[in-house]
Amino acid sequence: MKRAAVVGAGTMGNGIAHVFAQHGWRVALIDSAAPALEKATETIRGNLERQVKKGTLPADAPAEVLERIVTGTSLDAAAKAEIVVEAASENPAVKFSLFEQLDGVCLRGTILATNTSSISITEIAAHTRRAERVIGMHFMNPVPIMPLVEVIRGHATSDATTTTIMDTARALGKSPVEVNDYPGFVSNRVLMPMINEAIFCVMEGVATPDSIDTVMKLGMAHPMGPLALADFIGLDVCLAILEVLHRGLGDDKYRPCPLLRKMVAAGYLGRKTGRGFYDYHA
Ligand SMILES: NC(=O)c1ccc[n+]([C@@H]2O[C@H](COP(=O)([O-])OP(=O)(O)OC[C@H]3O[C@@H](n4cnc5c(N)ncnc54)[C@H](O)[C@@H]3O)[C@@H](O)[C@H]2O)c1
Repeated sequence: MKRAAVVGAGTMGNGIAHVFAQHGWRVALIDSAAPALEKATETIRGNLERQVKKGTLPADAPAEVLERIVTGTSLDAAAKAEIVVEAASENPAVKFSLFEQLDGVCLRGTILATNTSSISITEIAAHTRRAERVIGMHFMNPVPIMPLVEVIRGHATSDATTTTIMDTARALGKSPVEVNDYPGFVSNRVLMPMINEAIFCVMEGVATPDSIDTVMKLGMAHPMGPLALADFIGLDVCLAILEVLHRGLGDDKYRPCPLLRKMVAAGYLGRKTGRGFYDYHA
């Protein structure tokens, strides 16, 4: 049986562990915070049960899938993995330190992938002695449902690593797209300026959040408006990605909207705190 490790058991990590385990991989799900692991297991269980209700999974599958996932707080659990997907917080210092440690813990041939939304794969790889086996494997939220995996090649990523990750993504039922390592890659370089511009529209009183989202849904066939999507992603995550785009590309067109900064400072982070452009308390 193939073995994977997922580091970080938050929003993305639980979904990534779910998808690997559903496709027959033995998964070590690791988080430095034990409560995150308990929450992740419950989330995976709930999502698997939903799949059974929808008829996309047989009734006995959830127990089998959950049995393939072991959880723990130590990176040592990644020692036997063929692929590690890091999905810890979007903080360069956290990721650099994790990759240094994983490089020491994992077998020489293990591929170290990161689910980062915006941090340079090349820089992360430079914190290991295996830059040719470091790559971006950027799943979308919610992971069990969204088909795309953006596969990002760092400056030194080898063809063999890229092929393995593209093939693995396909074997997980996903559609991988290969891109190169530039700030925000493709997904967030295109998405975040649109979200930022929608926030400028709110700040300047062009329209209400609901009106802006309605224009984009009914007029541009977006399934979700940009402000509802920003709330879903997390306004702190959006701000962090825009900072990376602004700094990395040096162009003021990526300047984060002051209203976004203000909302993050106020703790209005979107769905996860119950309030963002919309109120989720009801
Ligand atoms: N949320 C999204 O919509 C989304 C989409 C695509 C990619 N991403 C990326 O996925 C990654 C994870 O994002 P998320 O939304 O799941 O974050 P999250 O805050 O929900 O979860 C992060 C988890 O990482 C854990 N963690 C932090 N430091 C750690 C360490 N040193 N060792 C082990 N665990 C550690 C935290 O305890 C937490 O449980 C980020 O890089 C983010 O940019 C997020």
